[in-house]
Amino acid sequence: MRVVRLASEIDFDGWRRAARRLRAEGAAPETVIWTVERDLFEAAPAEAPAPIAGAFTVPPAFVELARSVVLHRSGERFALLYRLLWRLEREPRLIDNPADPDVARARDMAKAVGRAIHKMHAFVRFRLVQSDPETYAAWFEPAHRVTEAAAPFFARRFTSMNWTIMTPDACVAWDGQTLQVSEGADPADAPSEDAQEELWRTYYASIFNPARLNEKMMRQEMPKRYWRNLPEARLIPQLIETAQERAAAMVAASPSPPPDRVLKAAMRQARDGSYNGDVPTSLDQVAAAVQVCRRCDLWRDATQGVPGQGAAHAPLMFVGEQPGDQEDLAGLPFVGPAGQVFDEALAAAGVPRGKTYVTNAVKHFKHEPRGKRRIHKTPDRGEVTACRWWLDAERRLVRPRVIVALGATAAHAVTGKATLIGANRGRALQLPDQAQAVVTYHPSFLLRLPDADARERARAEFVKDLRLAGELAKLID
Ligand code: URA
Repeated sequence: MRVVRLASEIDFDGWRRAARRLRAEGAAPETVIWTVERDLFEAAPAEAPAPIAGAFTVPPAFVELARSVVLHRSGERFALLYRLLWRLEREPRLIDNPADPDVARARDMAKAVGRAIHKMHAFVRFRLVQSDPETYAAWFEPAHRVTEAAAPFFARRFTSMNWTIMTPDACVAWDGQTLQVSEGADPADAPSEDAQEELWRTYYASIFNPARLNEKMMRQEMPKRYWRNLPEARLIPQLIETAQERAAAMVAASPSPPPDRVLKAAMRQARDGSYNGDVPTSLDQVAAAVQVCRRCDLWRDATQGVPGQGAAHAPLMFVGEQPGDQEDLAGLPFVGPAGQVFDEALAAAGVPRGKTYVTNAVKHFKHEPRGKRRIHKTPDRGEVTACRWWLDAERRLVRPRVIVALGATAAHAVTGKATLIGANRGRALQLPDQAQAVVTYHPSFLLRLPDADARERARAEFVKDLRLAGELAKLID
């Protein structure tokens, strides 16, 4: 019997060197024992001698298969691979025969390793463990010994972050330039909860759609062994329990969630940290990031964030105050009663809404419950200021020639100072960013005017202001 001791559980190179030598010496597979364990006082294995000249070459497909199989946790992997290597000399096409039990076993093992890498890419969750310099850490228990194999993906994805992934097999650390591998860690060293996780869980709970719950699929995609690492998974039992009730409530309220594209981007950004507070570079990114915005507390009671809607480079932008009840459910600005007044006035002014960009100063619906109704509450200065981040991003991305502020809240957000509507409407105001502003009434103001004559007068002024804006923006002559 020959005993071959390898340097580590995933020592592919060591296995390859030893296997070549054994093969050249004619050592039959059943006469070789492969191990990684060492006697207590034994030194690490000496560097294996160079392979013997004239050793036969193996197909690259076998080398590729062997590299994966070595990462499997099965104790038989090194022996199985040597048996395959031994047989390959007489059966050069062996690897192409999926019916062969050794080949089938090796392929199954490689597949399991591939799945483990995939799961690790999908389910690792970093936690902020140090703020200066910002450093993240994650604890993960992969099904196979794939930590090193999975690490380059994280280095590519989170290139500018400092992070460490700890597993029982190995720890990999990235400092922005190099990947360092060290010994496996104890679960006790895993980083603990932080505020970001609470945010993530809250977000997950708010977008979780009980009507689409497919528990089996969910468990398949997110196997229980990984739940412990996923902040959102902690919600699953409770979400499943309340799914029916929540589905009924949802049908009653009939909100339209943000489009799948937006939700997927939001999930992706929240998950991979690709939106981490940097200035958004596209309207899609704004729309997605608004869904996870926690700049103020209004998200707590809102169904969803309502981003702007319209032409990407519209010459004319409208800014309202905040979404109303119907906008909150639909996820779109100005689709309720105020939207109707707005649409009618636009039509009367001859301004095509489709060629404009419509948004709000505040992206979440602020309200208080009154019986079954949700009553609009004006956002306060802090909320408007917090949300200006998104409005400014939209302004930078759309670059409108003219911005119409609908009402006092919008006028403040657009001009940066308190701007009385009565004293400033009906003319163009110059903004520092080259755009012009027109401030005018909020459509709801027209709805609230009790006197029919006053309402008609205000409506005519409103239409006139929209026409002026359309002309300044060169959307109408
Ligand atoms: N009021 C607003 O200010 N914005 C909307 O989107 C709807 C109502």
